[in-house]
Amino acid sequence: MVHAEYDIQKGAYNSAGEASADIKRKLQQLGISPVTLRRVAVSSYEMEMNIIIHSLGGTMGLCVDKDWITLSSKDQGPGIEDVELAMSEGYSTADDDARSMGFGAGMGLPNMKRNADDFRITSQLGEGTQITITFKVM
Ligand SMILES: Nc1ncnc2c1ncn2[C@@H]1O[C@H](COP(=O)(O)OP(=O)(O)OP(=O)(O)O)[C@@H](O)[C@H]1O
Ligand SMILES: [Mg+2]
Repeated sequence: MVHAEYDIQKGAYNSAGEASADIKRKLQQLGISPVTLRRVAVSSYEMEMNIIIHSLGGTMGLCVDKDWITLSSKDQGPGIEDVELAMSEGYSTADDDARSMGFGAGMGLPNMKRNADDFRITSQLGEGTQITITFKVM
């Protein structure tokens, strides 16, 4: 139904949130309910910030169907050594720069999972990380 893809640059704090803002706008135009919109918007923002802060750059994708919304990301390096640890609340390797801007609570991945109907993450150390999140349209 609707597809979009976004390039996200490493360290691009000055344009941070642009992809997730565009995703939110697209969903609003499609008449997606506020409840669903909020779940997707929270997740897309956390997804975008993680690529900016923790990866070497990547892409985000949006796919909107009648009943389902899918958010996906794919980035280049450094990957995550221990995905289970990274998924735990409060775990963060955010650097001082990111922390000075209020990031690094270690809540992004847990929040994505909490908001999702289905959440999948895979990562290869030194190569990159892939996330697919599915939301039921309510
Ligand atoms: N795309 C990624 N590439 C490499 N490491 C990642 C990626 N996403 C998350 N991580 C690792 O997982 C940790 C936890 O991520 P999470 O989003 O939960 O917290 P955070 O980004 O550190 O802080 P917050 O999201 O609360 O600002 C990160 O600190 C980082 O070590
Ligand atoms: Mg994060």
